[in-house]
Amino acid sequence: MKSIITAAVLASALVAAPAMADLDLAKKSGCLACHSVDKKVVGPAWKDVAASGADRARLITSISKGGKGNWTAVTGGVPMPPYSPRVSDANIEILADFILGL
Ligand code: HEC
Repeated sequence: MKSIITAAVLASALVAAPAMADLDLAKKSGCLACHSVDKKVVGPAWKDVAASGADRARLITSISKGGKGNWTAVTGGVPMPPYSPRVSDANIEILADFILGL
C-alpha cells in the first residue's frame, strides 16, 4: 500500500515538473512582470487566455510580435510588448503551449 502511494506521489511529481519548468521559463523571460496564471496583472490571466479559445498561431504572433486590442476589455488597451528575438522562437512556442494547456 505504501509503495502504491509513493508511486502515485512520484507520478504526480513527474507530471507537475514540465509545468514548473515552463513557469520558470516565463519568469526568466520577464513575462511574470505583467502576467500571472490565474489573476489579471497588467496583462490578462493566462488561464483566461486559455479559456478564451484563442488559437495557438495567434498567441505565438502576440508573444513574438506583440499584441494589442485582443484584451482591451480586461486591460484598458495596454499593448503586449514583442518578445522576438529576445526569446527564441522555440521558447515562444513552449510558452504558448504552456499557456494553452492551463
Ligand atoms: C509589459 C507587460 C507585459 C509583459 C512583460 C508581457 N505581457 Fe503578455 N500581455 C500584456 C498585455 C497588456 C496583453 C493584452 C494585449 C491585448 O489586449 O491584445 C498581453 C497578452 C498576452 C497574451 C494573449 C495574446 C492573445 O493574442 O490573446 C499572451 C499569450 C501573453 N500576453 C503572453 C506573454 C508572454 C509569454 C510573455 C513573456 C514572454 C508576456 N506575455 C509578457 C502585457 C505583457
